[in-house]
Amino acid sequence: MAGAGPVLILGGSGFLGAHLVAEALARFAGRRTVVSASRDPGAAPAPGVAADAFQARRVDALAAGELEAALEDLAPAGIVLATALSRVGDCERYPGLARELNVRLPERVAGWCAARGRRLVHVSTDLVFGGVPPAGERYSEDDPPSPVHVYGETKAAGEALALERGATVCRLPLLFGDSGGRGLGASDQVAAAVARGDRPTLFTDEWRTPLDVGDAARAVLELLELPFAGRLHVAGPERIDRHALGRLVLAANGLPADGVDAGTRADLGLEASRPADVSLDASRARALLSTPLRSPADALRARSA
Ligand SMILES: NC(=O)c1ccc[n+]([C@@H]2O[C@H](COP(=O)([O-])OP(=O)(O)OC[C@H]3O[C@@H](n4cnc5c(N)ncnc54)[C@H](OP(=O)(O)O)[C@@H]3O)[C@@H](O)[C@H]2O)c1
Repeated sequence: MAGAGPVLILGGSGFLGAHLVAEALARFAGRRTVVSASRDPGAAPAPGVAADAFQARRVDALAAGELEAALEDLAPAGIVLATALSRVGDCERYPGLARELNVRLPERVAGWCAARGRRLVHVSTDLVFGGVPPAGERYSEDDPPSPVHVYGETKAAGEALALERGATVCRLPLLFGDSGGRGLGASDQVAAAVARGDRPTLFTDEWRTPLDVGDAARAVLELLELPFAGRLHVAGPERIDRHALGRLVLAANGLPADGVDAGTRADLGLEASRPADVSLDASRARALLSTPLRSPADALRARSA
């Protein structure tokens, strides 16, 4: 990364973003200031992170000129873009907003970085896939996107614009892990539902390569410091269905493993709108990065220990 500027986490108050801020503080300690920017950047620091350990910058990415003014003022050496309209249902309901946050925003940030020679890692998703099966067993960086919904379509379009402008695109899988009591992500959502007496139905016909959110954040920040360009799949080693993942989560939280029901996308008529299998092949990331990408069982066991 060129220059003495800070590391800027756009979307630092989100599920992944809070972990990016925490990991950036650890990685860049004594070297760079860490700035978290969003509409409410101090809202939810990751567990163990003091609210004054990082600089919080209030920015509405949709307010004309506000983000560009903050970028000029901060002059970051490196940026991670984790701002998004990240929920599939929200993207279906608000496609215009999805376009602004998932397509136009990466274009704008990548354009700014390209003009000033700054490093950008843009965070994307396994859900750019699902419409067409992969050439191999899992989707590699060489498979073309085949989204099945507005979220996947807008993320794929945002990736392409960011790549054209020289950004690195890091595709992540379904994330689980500590959401600081917010009930976010694939594990805390399930544990919170079961703890309050619900019986969620989890699919046995939906496969992912899930990754702990802390591992994902560490990998993204390692990538920020590497001279790697293009797309990289950063994912867990294990292909697992949602129901099996849910049972691991319950066991790790000391909850009864039969607290979730098994169901199928087919039972609920959701086959067209939810991709069955978007498992990512992360072999390139494993060769490039020193950050361990643990299996769900290992990561959940370490968290509950
Ligand atoms: N969660 C997953 O399982 C998963 C899996 C694969 C990929 N990803 C990718 O990872 C990234 C982060 O996902 P996430 O789950 O952490 O999302 P999230 O929890 O919904 O966080 C979204 C972030 O965007 C910010 N934001 C939204 N609208 C904004 C606006 N108008 N101006 C400024 N900031 C705004 C939010 O902050 P404020 O509300 O404070 O503004 C928040 O910090 C996304 O690119 C997503 O596609 C996530």
